[in-house]
Amino acid sequence: MLRTHTCGELRASDVGQEVTLCGWVDTYRDHSGVLFVDLRDRYGRTQVVFAPESGDETLASAKLLRSEFVVAVTGKGAPRPEGTVNPNLVTGQIELRARHLEVLNRSLTPPFQPGAKELPGEDLRLKYRYLDLRRAEMQQTMLLRHRMIKVMRDYCDELGFIDVETPVLGRSTPEGARDYLVPSRVQQGMFYALPQSPQLSKQILMIAGYDRYVQIARCFRDEDLRADRQPEFTQLDLEMAFVDADDVMGVIDGLVARLAKEILGLEVPIPLPRMTYDEAMERFGHDAPDLRFGMELIDITNLAAEAEFRVFRGVADSGGRVRGINAKGAAAKYSRKGIDELTSYIVGDFGAKGLAWFKVDEHGKLASPIAKNFSAELLAKIAQQMDARPGDLLLLVADRADVTSKALYGLRKRLGAELKLYDPAEMHFSWVVEFPMFEYDEELDGWAAMHHPFTTPRAKDRDLLATDPARCRAQAYDLVVNGNEAGGGTVRIHDRQLQQEVFRLLGIDEETARESFGFLLDALQYGAPPHAGIALGIDRLIMLFGQLDNIRDCIAFPKTQRATDLMTGAPGHVDSRQLQELGIKISR
Ligand code: AMO
Ligand code: AMP
Repeated sequence: MLRTHTCGELRASDVGQEVTLCGWVDTYRDHSGVLFVDLRDRYGRTQVVFAPESGDETLASAKLLRSEFVVAVTGKGAPRPEGTVNPNLVTGQIELRARHLEVLNRSLTPPFQPGAKELPGEDLRLKYRYLDLRRAEMQQTMLLRHRMIKVMRDYCDELGFIDVETPVLGRSTPEGARDYLVPSRVQQGMFYALPQSPQLSKQILMIAGYDRYVQIARCFRDEDLRADRQPEFTQLDLEMAFVDADDVMGVIDGLVARLAKEILGLEVPIPLPRMTYDEAMERFGHDAPDLRFGMELIDITNLAAEAEFRVFRGVADSGGRVRGINAKGAAAKYSRKGIDELTSYIVGDFGAKGLAWFKVDEHGKLASPIAKNFSAELLAKIAQQMDARPGDLLLLVADRADVTSKALYGLRKRLGAELKLYDPAEMHFSWVVEFPMFEYDEELDGWAAMHHPFTTPRAKDRDLLATDPARCRAQAYDLVVNGNEAGGGTVRIHDRQLQQEVFRLLGIDEETARESFGFLLDALQYGAPPHAGIALGIDRLIMLFGQLDNIRDCIAFPKTQRATDLMTGAPGHVDSRQLQELGIKISR
């Protein structure tokens, strides 16, 4: 070993000891011939002092040190002089009086200082990721990631899950995104698809009798990227045989409680609360509601139908809805201009046509430029139905039901943050269950699977498949954390007939089903047990546990919004010989 201790290890009790530390030069100060260097590694920072006692040669070479040089320093631990103890640093009581310095490697002047307080632009961080990863925050996040994955693995191991690897070069598994394709050299014109998830592999493992499967699985989806989405991401992927939805949720309840306890020191009561999809949409306008605060959606369509205000009555008469939220005590916080901003936000981002608002005055009366369009009695009824108290701000959207959901979901989320209705450190875990089996896809002009095509309908909805697919609910469950979908799973179809019926409903004809999923349809005929499972988005969970705003901050080597890697330059060109071998011609 080149070192005796790490840079985070020395304490007051090490005074007088001869030690060698290795690390990077973090900060460097010259105080009239005495040099103070903070040496950094992933364990911490230690102050090193080069003074005349270090000897001429050592002092001379210390003068040549610059940021990010890698060094080994030998010397004695000494107490820091009175007044210079740093209580914010675990090594803050001690310094290393250097006697010998070895420069292990030099560094060019870095484009940014990993130890600096202010963060450089993200492009620079991604291009020089090795420097960015030296930052203490990134190292803490990588450690958090490691610890969370370890808790997951240990927990699953204790419950008898076995880790089985599944192929990366495979066939397309429909999870609703575009596939990443890999051309075959041996069979020109043919392609592998990288897995969007190991969904079918794990179902095959259940049919093969492996019962409890787990994998920390890499998934690939070519989709529009956002703050919580990456083209390649990691799932905790589970599957169990001879179980129902409650069993799978029970396993995850235990895992969530364990993670909260071991990682954050929080007691999370289990079982986690559950809400149906219909209830979530009604109360919050979204299938992953943030339950850290109230401000639920309130329906006033019944009253809107009586209104003279043409916007409200028109919508109520044409089968739309008028819904709103009551931002308690927020009337004074939003000026006309502030409300205009909220209006442009829901019009621009959610396709609403407008935002109607009332401020509740000190007598409990509703005031607004549109108030003149309502009778005094109707205003009083609206106030009552929306539980309006002096100082409240009522915000209302009239539109098609789905537009009111989206717009008010957006508004609630924004106001929740702006009005600080929750503590950002609070964690709220819950389940949303009984999703619709299908959603109507306007582009396809047909039904699409809400989760994926291998999902079982609720037993009592089995007949609705033939008569009214829109009302058919699935045995599906999503784990919701602070308003984010952190995981999703379903009870699977293990009956070939039912699987084929669902394929048919999804417009997958027999030939396509054979071609793409023939192996599954075959396997279902060789003793497929009832089975169910789930996948948790590990990156998203780390984001939430680490209170990070962006998924890129919890992945060592993430891609940009344009799915590029700024450090390696991927994706890149390949030479023409490689293309020729694959039988590929680039058309542009
Ligand atoms: P699903 O598609 O819901 O289900 O994915 C499960 C979880 O993975 C996370 N996730 C993502 N995280 C980062 N970037 C992405 N692009 C991304 N896409 C999804 C989410 C999501 O809840 N095979 C099924 C699971 C099952 O039925 O067992 C599946 O993949 O947190
Ligand atoms: P207008 O008569 O269209 O100028 O609208 C009068 C007020 O009603 C404005 O404050 C609009 O923002 C609001 N408004 C218009 N359309 C809607 C709608 N669909 N839902 C809620 N409020 C609306």
